[in-house]
Amino acid sequence: MTRPLVRGLAIAACLTLTITVVARVCCADEPPPVKEIMQKAHKEKTGVLMILQDQLIEKTPDWPAIQKNTKELVKLAETLEKTKPPRGSAKGWNQRTAEYREGTNNLAKYVDAKNQDKAQGEIGFLASRCMGCHREHKPEK
Ligand code: HEC
Repeated sequence: MTRPLVRGLAIAACLTLTITVVARVCCADEPPPVKEIMQKAHKEKTGVLMILQDQLIEKTPDWPAIQKNTKELVKLAETLEKTKPPRGSAKGWNQRTAEYREGTNNLAKYVDAKNQDKAQGEIGFLASRCMGCHREHKPEK
């Protein structure tokens, strides 16, 4: 009498475990929403890019701090590249996010070389990418 019940419980436990494992694997790879990346990277005053912009204006830049923030920006750009656009074509999105990520890689190169002019120039390039992407991919309110 108890046997089928035990077996049933064992199967149920096994299924639950499988579902949990599959859910973990699936969602650990999922990038965070674009909005969250934008806030970390670009929010007025507190965004990593905005802080970098200020840090690179200094006469004697704090290179170790700039290097740390640049690494963070590269990571954010790499994550952005893995997302899907909330609006607009996947092709355009892939091009724009790849271009942005390349820009952050260039920035990292200039920062490692402590080349303030080039680093500022690259920040200017990244800051010139906002509008075009928003026009194409930011959901209208
Ligand atoms: C590759 C495309 C892309 C680039 C480049 C880009 N953005 Fe965005 N941004 C988006 C998208 C898409 C959203 C809308 C996210 C959503 O609401 O789902 C967004 C949203 C935002 C938001 C609103 C976040 C919120 O809280 O709703 C801010 C602020 C922002 N971007 C700032 C910037 C700035 C500043 C730049 C340039 C330095 C920039 N973005 C560059 C795609 C981009």
